[in-house]
Amino acid sequence: MHKLTQKEVFKGLNPENIDFYLLNTVDSTNTYAKEKLLTKDYIVVISEQQTAGRGRQGKEWYSPNTGNIYMSIKFRDKNPAPLSLIIGLLISEAIDSVSGQKVNAGLKWPNDLLINKKKICGILIESDINADKVECIVGIGINYSLPKKESWWGEIGELADILPREKLINGILRGIISYAENGYENWKDAWEKRCMHMGIELKAVSNNQKDAEIGIFNGINEEGKMLLQTATKLKIISSGECSIKGIY
Ligand code: BTN
Repeated sequence: MHKLTQKEVFKGLNPENIDFYLLNTVDSTNTYAKEKLLTKDYIVVISEQQTAGRGRQGKEWYSPNTGNIYMSIKFRDKNPAPLSLIIGLLISEAIDSVSGQKVNAGLKWPNDLLINKKKICGILIESDINADKVECIVGIGINYSLPKKESWWGEIGELADILPREKLINGILRGIISYAENGYENWKDAWEKRCMHMGIELKAVSNNQKDAEIGIFNGINEEGKMLLQTATKLKIISSGECSIKGIY
C-alpha cells in the first residue's frame, strides 16, 4: 500500500489558509479536528487508520490501516444549503472528475454514497460553537479495501487504479473549499440527479429506529428534507435514514 504524502494530497492547495495534519493513527479524525483551534480558514485531518472511528447514530466506523480514506475538514460554513447533503454531492462529483469517468456514485438520503448498490462512503457532520460562531466538522470515510465485510459494505475496489487515494482526497478538498467559498447554486437539482432512489419506494426510519414510514421518494426540499409520498399524504422528513428493498 502506498502511504499518503503531504505533497500529493495537498497539491495546489493554499497552505496559508489550511492547517494540515497527516497522521498514522488517531482515535477519530473528527475528534482530533474538534479539539484543534481554528486559526486559519480550514483544518484538515487525515489518518491512515482510526482506533475509535465514529459513524452516524453513535455507530462505530471500522477503520483499519488498509488504504482507506479517513478525513475531517473543519471550517465555518456560511452557505445556507444543508451541508450534509452537499458533501455527498461534492464527493460524487469529485469521483467523476478525478477518475475522468461517469462513475455516478449514487446518493442515498441523507448522505451515503453507493457504487454497485453498496455503501462505499459515509459522512459524519458535527458542529461546535466557538466565540459565537458555528464551526462544522465534516468527517468522510471512503472504503478502498475492507478485510471484514458486512453485506452492505462496498469498496472502491476495481476503480482504485483510476481513483488513487491521494488524488481523490485532493479532489474532495478542492470541491469542499470551492463550495465553502462560492456556494452551489443549483445544488438541489444536482443532488436529485445523482440520487439513486428518485421515485422509488423506500422506508424512512427515525434516528431512534422507533418510527418508520413507507412511501415513494419524491425528492428533497430546499432544506434537504425528504419528500415522501405515503398512501395518505406527502410527508416531509427531516432526520433519520432510509432503507430500500434489495439495497439496505
Ligand atoms: C456513517 O455512519 O455513515 C458515517 C461514517 C463517517 C466516518 C468518518 S471516517 C473520518 C471521520 N472520523 C470519524 O470518526 N468518522 C468520520
